[in-house]
Amino acid sequence: MKRKVAVLPGDGIGQEVMNGALAVLKAVGDQFGHQFEVIQGDIGGVAIDSHGTPLPKQTLELCKECDAVLLGAVGGPKWKDVPVQLRPEKGLLGIRKELGLFANLRPISTFKSLLDASPLKRNVVQGVDFVIVRELTGGLYFGKPSERRGENKEVAVDTLHYERSEIEKVVHKAFQLASNRRKKLTSVDKANVLESSRLWREVVDEISGDYPDVEVEHLLVDAAAMKIVYQPTQFDVIVTENMFGDILSDEASMLTGSLGMLPSASLREDHFGLYEPVHGSAPDIAGEDKANPMAMMLSVAMMLKHSFGLKEEAEMVEKAVQEVLDTGYRTDDLKELGSGTIVGTEAMSQLVVEQIEPNHAMSSILSTYL
Ligand code: IPM
Ligand code: MG
Repeated sequence: MKRKVAVLPGDGIGQEVMNGALAVLKAVGDQFGHQFEVIQGDIGGVAIDSHGTPLPKQTLELCKECDAVLLGAVGGPKWKDVPVQLRPEKGLLGIRKELGLFANLRPISTFKSLLDASPLKRNVVQGVDFVIVRELTGGLYFGKPSERRGENKEVAVDTLHYERSEIEKVVHKAFQLASNRRKKLTSVDKANVLESSRLWREVVDEISGDYPDVEVEHLLVDAAAMKIVYQPTQFDVIVTENMFGDILSDEASMLTGSLGMLPSASLREDHFGLYEPVHGSAPDIAGEDKANPMAMMLSVAMMLKHSFGLKEEAEMVEKAVQEVLDTGYRTDDLKELGSGTIVGTEAMSQLVVEQIEPNHAMSSILSTYL
């Protein structure tokens, strides 16, 4: 069976980290005898330059023909003055919406060898292992088109809009995930202030009846933000609306020491998914061989698991990343640690590939000499 993957590297460090991820995908294919066909497309700033829009029709069509999508990152100073509707970020929001990817999974787990990379104390972050399920196609991000009102346009309006059916879909996904993990679901809202949050809470309570073995707790978003830094091991699965999830996931990323380690999966009801690192395009280090390719590689692992059902292969990628870190290799974002060997994006990618395909180093050496 040949699996088709749309590859959208995007802007900034997107292409560099994607190269590493594709090398990992190829190594998995070679090692396990799977065929992956990868087809490249444009999104974000590069698409504005080549097609005049951040999400060209061809790119959407390509994604729809494929079984999964790998996305690097979008945006950069080059496009900061383009009209709002054409901004690179619109490409990202558009592709999520157009493909119906309503559930964004952002796993947060600490790596043993990176415990000291976290700004928080070792005893707080040790053993952290939870997943944020962020609603991705509704809420403030997709309310009635934002507008300026008033004579001097001194009033700005954004709308937080949710329909019951949108909440139901993502909450079911979160319950299913919790059922297969430690069976605890934390729903995060602001029900003491927002009507949409009261609806959210109602829906969670109703659906909880379908999952009697999952323990449910409700937390207000401010309290959740606090608990993430003082008792993060208490969480198993967190489910929340779009913007709360955006903010909490950046906060939670610091538990692991670097945004450069965090993958994500954006899913719908079938097996199709879009996989991207949580980090952005980091224009300040683009092209310098400094970016950490691990979040993109771990996004490949999520794709193998969620879209292709290849659990063993996914675990092999995760283990390869773990072993390279345990051996002491670090990219620039993790250098504060003060120990280990700093390597560039390409070298780091090569190290992970060699873990998956032990003969890889040998065969490239041989091909040089034979
Ligand atoms: C993310 C990003 C995006 C978001 C931006 C780039 C639009 O911050 O994926 O978390 O807010 O969803
Ligand atoms: Mg974000």
